[in-house]
Amino acid sequence: NNQFISSFRTGYIRCKGVCMPEYYKEFAEDIINMDVRDDDVWVCSFPKTGTTWTQEMAWCIANDLDFEGAKVFLPERFPFLEHTPLFDYRKNPEMQQQLPPYVLNSVKHISNLPGRRFIKAHLPLRLLPKKIQDGSTKAKVIYVTRNPKDTCVSYFHHCQLLEGYKGNFEDFFKIFLDGLVCFGPFWSHVLEFWEASKTNPNILFLKYEDMKKDLISVINRTTEFLNKKLSPDQIDILANHLSFESMKNNRATNYEVVVEINKENNLIDKDKCETGSFMRSGKIGGWKALMTNEMSDQIDLWSKQPLKGSDFSFSS
Ligand code: A3P
Repeated sequence: NNQFISSFRTGYIRCKGVCMPEYYKEFAEDIINMDVRDDDVWVCSFPKTGTTWTQEMAWCIANDLDFEGAKVFLPERFPFLEHTPLFDYRKNPEMQQQLPPYVLNSVKHISNLPGRRFIKAHLPLRLLPKKIQDGSTKAKVIYVTRNPKDTCVSYFHHCQLLEGYKGNFEDFFKIFLDGLVCFGPFWSHVLEFWEASKTNPNILFLKYEDMKKDLISVINRTTEFLNKKLSPDQIDILANHLSFESMKNNRATNYEVVVEINKENNLIDKDKCETGSFMRSGKIGGWKALMTNEMSDQIDLWSKQPLKGSDFSFSS
């Protein structure tokens, strides 16, 4: 059921109801059947919901605040499982030469990694390895989510900055609501993990808004979940390291390197990368700058049906 469903990226298809690039099909089976190890740490999320923030927090806690080790570029320490299936770099041989193995062949690279693995994934639960879906692994899985209004606005900026989206926000908003952005639709992604987290003690469910409002208590929950111990002083130091300003100025976490490579390869609008950055505003409610009241009402209405009968809510 191939479908042309995106105005800014062609060749998107639905896989088990999820919007994915067609190239992903070549990796789908390998991912489903992939071995999951009991000492793995996974961070799973819908894009733009605080993934990078959560990854940095989890990595630092699991590695006893090894800030020296944390100077290594985050995607190298904490590779993105479906990176290769998302971007078919075969079409760009020159760029291929600049890319590290965790980008060029992410699934194979991660499958062969020795030692404790840290794995990021944006795939919804139903497309993740069987062992995570059926809860037969002791791997620690942290899921993070964020209110859909801020997620949508952040995704729009992301697509402009990194994926060559040239349309306006109104069109992007429609694509988002129709579940036609990569990894969409939003609500089933969130609710599937929410339900699974209720019965599986190896899934920790976090919200971006809670991290903004009370990072210390989220650090505490994550530390306990990862069976670690941190002193109050260490927690303060970690909270500073994880502040928006600190992560924005940290080349290991701010993705400036990726923006630069895309710029060199003319993959992104030069104007956008002069003004834009991956660490953009990091706020709750920033959506108000772009969304009209009508759009906000529309998202509220759109959320009603999937949330019917669910005990899930955002506090803001
Ligand atoms: P904005 O675009 O709203 O600023 P992801 O890592 O899932 O792609 O999410 C990116 C979003 O998380 C961006 O949101 C980014 O600014 C925000 N973010 C990243 N690190 C953060 C931090 N330390 N504090 C607050 N927000 C952060």
